[in-house]
Amino acid sequence: MPLVPQHIKNLKPYQAGKPIDELRRELGLKKIVKLASNENPLGVSPLSLCAMREAMSEVSRYPSPDSHDLRQKLARRYDVNIKNVFAAHGSEGIISLIMRTFLLDDEEAITSDGSFVTFNIQAQSRGIQLKTAPLKNYRYDLPAIADRITHKTKVIYLANPNNPTGNIFTVPEFRAFMEKVPPRVLVILDEAYFEFATDDPAYPDSMQYRLDNVITLRTFSKAYGLAGVRIGYGFAHSDLIENLMKVKLTFEPSYPAQVGAIAAMDDQDFLDKTLWLNRHGREFLYQLFDRLGIEYITSQTNFVTIILDSEERVNTLYEKLLRQGVIVRPLKSFGLPNCIRVSTGLEEENAFFAKALERVI
Ligand SMILES: Cc1ncc(COP(=O)(O)O)c(C=O)c1O
Repeated sequence: MPLVPQHIKNLKPYQAGKPIDELRRELGLKKIVKLASNENPLGVSPLSLCAMREAMSEVSRYPSPDSHDLRQKLARRYDVNIKNVFAAHGSEGIISLIMRTFLLDDEEAITSDGSFVTFNIQAQSRGIQLKTAPLKNYRYDLPAIADRITHKTKVIYLANPNNPTGNIFTVPEFRAFMEKVPPRVLVILDEAYFEFATDDPAYPDSMQYRLDNVITLRTFSKAYGLAGVRIGYGFAHSDLIENLMKVKLTFEPSYPAQVGAIAAMDDQDFLDKTLWLNRHGREFLYQLFDRLGIEYITSQTNFVTIILDSEERVNTLYEKLLRQGVIVRPLKSFGLPNCIRVSTGLEEENAFFAKALERVI
């Protein structure tokens, strides 16, 4: 018997955006702007930072194993019972936990091509069969995903808005899709970019219609600027939550993460600033790409994806931008080799990117 199972050997690890330090080491550049990982350019909510600083003096103690205060606060905010709320080590952590908790070896998962590849990695690391449906005009093709459901299907993963295309599926599209999903199939609705999309009335906020087989995932990593402390949350039927609780690591998420998330929820000012900055950043990028004749996908997130002619053009542009001190994200590993994703930044970062792009294009 080999020590490492074949399905693990076959795994391709997640390729994160290039770290700033790495580029600085490689090219010795003074100014570097990273628009590659959809982080919050304003940094951390000041209220959250203050709470986490205080929490550091108590990290000798284990945190609440059921994240009671955070779940209570989320329950009140979203008008659900605490038994329907779950918190863990990033929404990525919850995806991994769902795959460990609910799947049998011979069951299958389905998602779309051109979506958040962490799900594919988690499904493949679980050694189960993963089916995908192609994107249609850079959007999820929900009917094609539904067509792939068989008696073996256990989990369907949908990111709404989707990363890396940035667009949404609408209320009628979601309703029609759910009519085709049997109740024995779990639907993970990953709403990591929910805060950026809610101003669109077509966006199906899954909290509006709670379905027993839907797990909604959200995160503090994006709109709340807490990507580095790793804290995500979810809503689902209490049966599902109860079983996730059994499998999760006892003391995840960490104490600073729980405390930081609670404080972040009170920082409406920070959230408003984040959303304002992002709306303006998106408009700025649209105008820039229009001016340069670059095709892009209209986005309901904190990034915009551009479409080029070929993978070769993507690689050339990516390399040239790196030399100008701008890190963006080529999307080959997400299954879109002719696309690049650009996160919105601070106004001066967007302007720096625009100048660099104009210079190299
Ligand atoms: C669709 C989607 N889901 C989840 C995540 C990860 O969120 P977290 O930091 O909570 O693990 C990301 C991050 O890029 C994402 O794009």
